[in-house]
Amino acid sequence: MLLKDKTAAISGAASARGIGLATARLFAEHGARIAILDIDEAAARKAAADLGPQHLGVACDVANKPSCQKAADEVIAAFGQVDILINNAGVTQPVKTLDIDEASWDRIQDINCKGVLFLSQVFIPHMRARKRGAIACMSSVSAQRGGGIFGGPHYSSAKAGVLGLAKAMAREFGPDGIRVNCVTPGLIQTDITGGKLNDEMRKDIVKGIPLDRLGEASDVAGVYLFLASDLSAYVTGAVIDVNGGMLIHG
Ligand SMILES: NC(=O)c1ccc[n+]([C@@H]2O[C@H](COP(=O)([O-])OP(=O)(O)OC[C@H]3O[C@@H](n4cnc5c(N)ncnc54)[C@H](O)[C@@H]3O)[C@@H](O)[C@H]2O)c1
Repeated sequence: MLLKDKTAAISGAASARGIGLATARLFAEHGARIAILDIDEAAARKAAADLGPQHLGVACDVANKPSCQKAADEVIAAFGQVDILINNAGVTQPVKTLDIDEASWDRIQDINCKGVLFLSQVFIPHMRARKRGAIACMSSVSAQRGGGIFGGPHYSSAKAGVLGLAKAMAREFGPDGIRVNCVTPGLIQTDITGGKLNDEMRKDIVKGIPLDRLGEASDVAGVYLFLASDLSAYVTGAVIDVNGGMLIHG
């Protein structure tokens, strides 16, 4: 039980096969009380109810500051304390540079990167007052190697922005007892690819992965658990790859 008596808010945790919900399940198994924050309110409520009556499903559009504030107020009032924030919500779009229009650029930046800022801004004052907190943010291999498989350049840019933002927050809030880290997954089998991954593509991609398989949502959940728990008490500003060796740094 790595998270006994802890509480966690996890964004983008309502979709059935997603990384966020796998994380919520794992954290609950480790004793945490979970708030699932998602733009899909009905799915968030259902996912939380499926986890058990002590958990909470809350509507939250991470790209909208008032919506983040309302969600944080509700979670803090219900739980009394929030120890862990997982900035996991994100969307992708497989388009090339010359095809990115302004609205798409803004949408991808807003949800993937600005959302990390907004949700952190509404939970950090509470964490700072308690002199403790663990924040983990979702980036991507796409940020590191200039494209994953399904994300366009605007997605790479937004996820690279998350790395810079998280490192800066780690530096700023370390003295307040708040740790901020990132995960950079490779290709994880969830619904974010919108069913566009066919068998031939899968085989081709796996050829470039030393561990010889695509990732599972639970692979990322395990790393989020490490970053949320006291096992990582002296880790901040770090970026942890969860990519099966798809990218190995020099
Ligand atoms: N699947 C992969 O291969 C992969 C790789 C690297 C990074 N990621 C990142 O992992 C995160 C989770 O993705 P997933 O693969 O589980 O996909 P998913 O589509 O299953 O989950 C995304 C969740 O975010 C929610 N969401 C979308 N817009 C939102 C908003 N504005 N506010 C709040 N919630 C919102 C969705 O409703 C959904 O529940 C994303 O940030 C994604 O970019 C995924």
